[in-house]
Amino acid sequence: MPDLALLGGHKTKTKPFPDWPMYDDKERRALMEVLESRVWWRTPGIKTLEFERAFATFHRAKHGIAVTNGTAALEVVMAALSVGPGDEVIVPDFTFIATASAVLFTGALPVMVDVLPDTYCIDPDLVEAAITPRTKAIIAVHMGGHPADLDRLAKIAGFPLSHSPDCCWFINSNRTCHLLRKPDILTC
Ligand SMILES: Cc1ncc(COP(=O)(O)O)c(C=O)c1O
Repeated sequence: MPDLALLGGHKTKTKPFPDWPMYDDKERRALMEVLESRVWWRTPGIKTLEFERAFATFHRAKHGIAVTNGTAALEVVMAALSVGPGDEVIVPDFTFIATASAVLFTGALPVMVDVLPDTYCIDPDLVEAAITPRTKAIIAVHMGGHPADLDRLAKIAGFPLSHSPDCCWFINSNRTCHLLRKPDILTC
């Protein structure tokens, strides 16, 4: 194995990562439009509704609800599934903290399950082994554009378990539409 760059070996990555988040004049113009309209809130505003419709259509979903961020989306989904104290929710052990904190926020217990070495997505076999009578939901995270195996998870979950993908890393991935179209899946 060649020496690690950290130890003085050859660097395979020489360019820095691009600035993030990315934006250009399109975003700048849209922001100014809202600012200058003086309609900065949702109720009479049309931008949020436009975005929700466009986003849902893009993902071939029936409905789309915009919230402030990914953490809020997960918390809304937990509430929609009536997750609460005494429940367990299976989450991957490799993800952003919000996947588990949204569960803790309800008073339920996040149960960490390991991910697969090739996709870094939750391992369905280990999910199956982690299910107990208290399991109320499974949150699958699609890591870096790799789709978690929702077909398998859906079979494992069955009724009345719910599984709810956290798609913060998956918007516009090739298989999104196929996976998100399942009527029993809440996606955030
Ligand atoms: C997998 C995953 N879930 C949830 C979140 C939370 O999103 P936000 O930072 O918009 O609250 C993130 C954010 O990076 C994430 O990577």
